[in-house]
Amino acid sequence: MIESELIWHNGELVAWEDAKIHVLTHGLHYGTAVFEGIRCYETDAGPAVFRHTEHLDRFERSAKLYYMDLPYSTEQLREATHELIARNGHSSCYIRPIAYRGYGQMGLNPLEAPIDVSIATWPWGAYLGEAGIRDGVRAKISSWERISSRSLIPQAKASGQYLNSVLAKIESVKAGYEEAILLDEHGHVCEGTGENIFVVLGGVIHTPPQTASILDGITRRSVIQIARDLGHEVVQRDIARAELSLADEVFLTGTAAELVPVREIDDHAIGSGRPGEITRALQAVFQDALHGRVERYREWNDVVAVTERAGA
Ligand SMILES: Cc1ncc(COP(=O)(O)O)c(C=O)c1O
Repeated sequence: MIESELIWHNGELVAWEDAKIHVLTHGLHYGTAVFEGIRCYETDAGPAVFRHTEHLDRFERSAKLYYMDLPYSTEQLREATHELIARNGHSSCYIRPIAYRGYGQMGLNPLEAPIDVSIATWPWGAYLGEAGIRDGVRAKISSWERISSRSLIPQAKASGQYLNSVLAKIESVKAGYEEAILLDEHGHVCEGTGENIFVVLGGVIHTPPQTASILDGITRRSVIQIARDLGHEVVQRDIARAELSLADEVFLTGTAAELVPVREIDDHAIGSGRPGEITRALQAVFQDALHGRVERYREWNDVVAVTERAGA
């Protein structure tokens, strides 16, 4: 990881090396934390956070689902993030807000444990690699089933839930693939370890519905809108495993990964084995939207108000 200078922690800016927690932090033991993954991009108007409010709203919703009252409003967190980006001097970066049950209470009832909030920023390149974005990745259907709403909250972005993604990721990487695709409790296609999934069949774009235990991805929503604006039909429905192998195109979407074609699943080439036409077209508009180059999506770019490093 490339370090930045400062981290925002409970309302203060602290040096990167001083952003430490106690070993008896509740969230460390029981996974009682919620977080977001957000990106800021270079635009002509300066660094701009992509769909910032939507991410912070999801952060607040994740917290609520785990009975955590965030001690900061989404507007306070938005302003804190702007200040942090400016003070760290980023033109683009990844942003990781986290709210966690802190030090002071052990045991499974977390309600008396404090809620601490931190925001970190750092430069982070393509999560599945530049080659993945360009040529597509190879994926494997995981033997691990995606968490269901019978045991956890698929719609929340909570730390403990990510053990499910971690197991699937390790399995796929050890088997020589770049990413895992998880099925849901009914055996339907669900999503990647940190990405939603789209399947193009006969010119129509399909993606699993909310009821398939997916995270309500903000990139997913953006890509659905872009696809419809380009005149494509987008259908949200259950997808059978075999449809992946028979698809003309498959791609993944997520903040960290962005829009990544899948060229092979379980050793079946997808379509021609190269990123398809629809994937490419969506990728191009999406990249333009991230960088503030599309007028109709400009409201998605939350331009950082202050761009000068304080004291510079
Ligand atoms: C499990 C999971 N699914 C999907 C996504 C994609 O969501 P978004 O596009 O909001 O980053 C993520 C990333 O946050 C994720 O962790």
